[in-house]
Amino acid sequence: MQEQIQQLEERASQRLHEVASLADLEEVRRALLGKKGELTALLRGMGGVAAGERPRMGQLVNDAKLRIEAMLEARGAELTRIARDAALAAEIIDVTLPARAVPFGRRHPLTQTSDDIVRIFSGLGYEVVEGPEVETLYYNFDALNIGPDHPARDEKDSLFISDNLVMRTETSAVQIHVMESRQPPVKIIAPGRVYRRDAVDRTHSAIFHQVEGLLVDQGVTFGDLKGTLTAFLQQLFEAIPGGSSLRTRFRPHYFPFTEPSAEFDISCIFCGGTGCSTCKGTGWIELGGCGMVHPGVLENVRYDSETYTGFAFGFGIERMAMIKFGIDNIRLFYDNDIRFSQQF
Ligand code: DAH
Repeated sequence: MQEQIQQLEERASQRLHEVASLADLEEVRRALLGKKGELTALLRGMGGVAAGERPRMGQLVNDAKLRIEAMLEARGAELTRIARDAALAAEIIDVTLPARAVPFGRRHPLTQTSDDIVRIFSGLGYEVVEGPEVETLYYNFDALNIGPDHPARDEKDSLFISDNLVMRTETSAVQIHVMESRQPPVKIIAPGRVYRRDAVDRTHSAIFHQVEGLLVDQGVTFGDLKGTLTAFLQQLFEAIPGGSSLRTRFRPHYFPFTEPSAEFDISCIFCGGTGCSTCKGTGWIELGGCGMVHPGVLENVRYDSETYTGFAFGFGIERMAMIKFGIDNIRLFYDNDIRFSQQF
């Protein structure tokens, strides 16, 4: 019996040594001390021991049980520590690792240009207003002196929603809404989207952005118009080499809602006016239209055209942005490719 106890203890020690996890340790505990365990079996065997020997044997088995329990506990503590160390090693945080790069967006070059335009005109005392993108024929055409037979009314150029509704073809329509709702002096710009039935190419898009400007007061002259646009354009392009000394040119033109009308150009900022591929050898870059508000338009909104005069202008934001940032294809603005917008 004594020998059996000793062998059991040795086996227990050996098995505990081999045990690699807490779950396995629990198994060993059951195999030794459980109801059907080996030590329990030994205790049951006490019946066969001579009565005089029983107390001593009982003592021996009990001592062995205590030692086995102590071994189990020690191994358990050891396995717990090993498991915790492994977990800590797996979860280790290397604070010296560089942080993961957070992708930053950029303001789209059209937004930047539009913001610049608004900032400059705000500095000149202009208020920013917006108008609807769907207009009745009256606002988009008639009120702007574009009669029923005018080519600009042709369905080839305009996107009609119904007989009387059209996607606005120019931001000039906002002029009418503003003048109908207030008395002079009026000093506004109206940025926004416009729509045309145009084929898309490198410099044209069926949807693009314009800024309309309008100033109505007593004694407004064409000289005021020229001075305003020149000051604006020099500020807008001042960051480009030669931009702040660019010259402007006003060429007679026709627009139904202004009289006299002009197109305005800047001296080519790429060649300084000597002629290059951008300005097609002319030394000038065409930017937009302008003129003195047609008396008929003033009368349409019940302004007294004897008392008040005004100027108006309009240009495309895409074109300004293309010049400002040296972008040669209008389609790039609408591709939503972050590699494009990140360059500006
Ligand atoms: N609306 C014109 C266009 O889309 C631009 C324009 C020309 C606006 C002359 C004006 C203006 O206010 O006076 O081409």
